[in-house]
Amino acid sequence: MSGNETSRIPGFYKLSPDERVKALQDAGADIALAPWRDEGLRLQDADLMVENVIGTFSLPNAVAVNFCIDGADRLVPMVVEEPSVVAAVSNMARLARRSGGFVTESSSDIMIGQLQLSNVQAPAEAVSKLEAARDELLAQAATIHPRLVARGGGMRGIDVRHVVYDEPGYPREDMVVLHIHLDCVDAMGANMVNTVVEHLAPLVEGITGEQVGLKILSNLADKRLAKATVRIDPKYLSTATLKGTEVAERIASAWRFAWADPYRAATHNKGVMNGIDAVALATGNDWRAIEAGAHAWCARDGHYRPMTTWRFDGDMLVGSIELPVQFGTVGGTIRVHPTVQANLALLGAEKANDLARVAVAVGLAQNLGALKALATEGIQAGHMRMHARTVAATAGATTAEVPRVAMALCAKRDYSVAYAERVLGELRGG
Ligand code: MEV
Repeated sequence: MSGNETSRIPGFYKLSPDERVKALQDAGADIALAPWRDEGLRLQDADLMVENVIGTFSLPNAVAVNFCIDGADRLVPMVVEEPSVVAAVSNMARLARRSGGFVTESSSDIMIGQLQLSNVQAPAEAVSKLEAARDELLAQAATIHPRLVARGGGMRGIDVRHVVYDEPGYPREDMVVLHIHLDCVDAMGANMVNTVVEHLAPLVEGITGEQVGLKILSNLADKRLAKATVRIDPKYLSTATLKGTEVAERIASAWRFAWADPYRAATHNKGVMNGIDAVALATGNDWRAIEAGAHAWCARDGHYRPMTTWRFDGDMLVGSIELPVQFGTVGGTIRVHPTVQANLALLGAEKANDLARVAVAVGLAQNLGALKALATEGIQAGHMRMHARTVAATAGATTAEVPRVAMALCAKRDYSVAYAERVLGELRGG
């Protein structure tokens, strides 16, 4: 988004897809419909992207509304198959904007590449030889991507690590691992990093006299972090039966459960990734890399922890998230996929670290939605309200009939296709 657009579009969820596009245009978004409908990914481009292509595959492309991030309204495209995700995140964004919205920051756009020396007999010696050759290694690496340097990126440093394989019951193995730090600017950077590490391998072998094993980027991109925080006034959290302060304390307690128990942390984090992955998909990003980095980061103290924190100090509920984020806004799929370009334009994200900051804010909002539901009415009530529409359609309801059938399913809390068919029959006068 750019200019005077607003992301606050009341009743957006009640509109038809065409009316939503019109509402986005009325809200100031400069969008054309074609990339989301008949001008998506072309077969010939898909065929160049991966192997053995027989066609393309569609998923719902939704827009989360109400987001205010760093004082600016943002319309957030999300590609996801799960009901409730977009509704929940839009509701939480509405709640958050009443207390000022999300505040974000990011570190650098630096990705890490690894060159591994395995089975090293004198690891300390190999480490010092590589450290002594730091300038030579940096100078050689700096020649590899001149266009990246012209865009403001390039080599930022080198680290040497001694890594030990000491699994009980098996022979010990010493490894020396060289890390290169490459500022990839707006690219996700996997290809760039992999090119650098492969190019440096002969030099590393010459310096150490050891053989290089693996040469590959690390998805634990802990030099490319994005952070978001939000402060919620508990008065906006109250329900028909609970005071806002009670809900805030229950949310903080639900977070403590995730901190203490990896079984809960995995589910808590799955909910965070519902939002982040949906943004990654909509913007043509490698969600597997983002997932891998996020989960590895959560285990950095040796125990798998939640991706977010929620604390209630009696005054405000404060949430935060910090994750490695390997997002790009140029290169790869992004260049050839018209829908991805349209989504990036709708979001108004040109810089990779801007996209990453939006994504973590979405993850934090998504987590708040899940915790609030879990801490109050439970997750199924809202989920089934959304799911009712799919059940109605499965039972054969037309677009016009879906809302009435769904409403009947919700009223009776019976979400079976059989009941939907019965309702549909009655509706049609059968
Ligand atoms: C479902 O997709 C995500 C949740 O399970 C997340 C959570 O439990 O926090 C609702």
